[in-house]
Amino acid sequence: MSIAMAGVADTSRPRSTELYRRGQAVFPDGVTRVTIERDPHPIYVTRGEGAFVVDVDGHRLLDLNNNFTTLLHGHAFEPVVKAVAQLLRSGSCFANPTTHEIALAELLVARIPALEKIRFVNTGTEAVMFAVKAARAFTGRPAVARFEGAYHGAYDWAEGEQYRPAPRDGNHESDVLHLRFNDVAGTQAALTAHADRLAAVLIDPMPSRAGLIAPTREFITGLMTVARQLGILIIADEVLNLRQGFCGASHRYGLQPDLLTAGKIIGGGFPVGAVGGRGDVMAVFGAGANAATVSQGGTFSANPVSMCAGLVAMEAADEPCFADLERKGDALRARLTSIAAQAQAPFSVTGAASLFRIHGKRQAPRTYAETLASAEEQKRLVALTRFFRAQDILLPLGAAASLSTAMTNDDLNHVANTFAAFVAEAGSDTQEAQQ
Ligand SMILES: Cc1ncc(COP(=O)(O)O)c(C=O)c1O
Repeated sequence: MSIAMAGVADTSRPRSTELYRRGQAVFPDGVTRVTIERDPHPIYVTRGEGAFVVDVDGHRLLDLNNNFTTLLHGHAFEPVVKAVAQLLRSGSCFANPTTHEIALAELLVARIPALEKIRFVNTGTEAVMFAVKAARAFTGRPAVARFEGAYHGAYDWAEGEQYRPAPRDGNHESDVLHLRFNDVAGTQAALTAHADRLAAVLIDPMPSRAGLIAPTREFITGLMTVARQLGILIIADEVLNLRQGFCGASHRYGLQPDLLTAGKIIGGGFPVGAVGGRGDVMAVFGAGANAATVSQGGTFSANPVSMCAGLVAMEAADEPCFADLERKGDALRARLTSIAAQAQAPFSVTGAASLFRIHGKRQAPRTYAETLASAEEQKRLVALTRFFRAQDILLPLGAAASLSTAMTNDDLNHVANTFAAFVAEAGSDTQEAQQ
């Protein structure tokens, strides 16, 4: 995924331009994470306020990125700010456990059916890494199956085809099997053929980079049936999609995983990850004399700041909160879809709950292959994100956009009206392109 664009210099953002120049002197490619959009430079932020960020050049933008869907309540959510400010006076990390980690674990275990036991880590990448290690230790098998196009963080076994460095160390390539999402027969055949080597199948119930396309019921049922028969564990990666509901995404789609990973929203805006699941599988993280064990540590794992912020944010994310986000998400997706349809514009929308993704194609993609943007479609999406930015809205390019509880109906009207204005303005171009 390339998100560096050779756009024309943005004269309205001289400070961001200058900061990028400084960044290029000290960071490879000028930034510290590959996912930073540059068009042609990143927009450096000075502060966040609820649904908005303010950049270093004084622009105030509606933030549909929410740090890659992390901020369920937007920026500087007051209850989190208060709790963390108070906590910081008592120290930020210890070699000893604190009550905060137990409180957050209790909340998650009570809410999410797949979680009997849980361990906290610092990122989603780590969570997926430990889930894969746990599955390999529990089953005694080396390989993992994953679905093409899905992003599961930067652990080699989970990374897939997206950011492939060369050369890879070890021979894990042969230990990663790639499957097609929503392909029941193909998935069943591949799992059956490789069963004796497969520890787990890793699945994001609605992978965002693969299109933010919902799983079919037959796919979920077929996957569970074959995995159970073959003794292959199911790892549901809900690092992103836990925000699909009070009980998470697996529950929503009828998936009963053996292990589940979480992150993003459960840290209330601070770094976090979690791996949890069946008690007998999670026992591999114990020090039982006979068990195949996985050593899981981490200097900052379960640090009280992330735990406390996460607890406050998740307590505020109660059932009415998720229901409200869902209503708003449904309404926005329906509106964007109808704007595109009425204008016969080559755009479509996928997503669920508080997540949406706009595609530069008339027909909403149904598979990862259909999600991939042609050069023409990519150009269209870049034009769309530029138009949004000119209207002070940050729309992620080719990734999931998300709502937060800080967004008002006026904010969402602004999103829909901006999309309608873009479609109207680009109308003549897109009609031409069709001919
Ligand atoms: C589904 C999924 N898994 C894992 C990760 C990795 O999480 P992190 O960036 O916290 O390492 C992400 C990050 O976007 C994700 O969306």
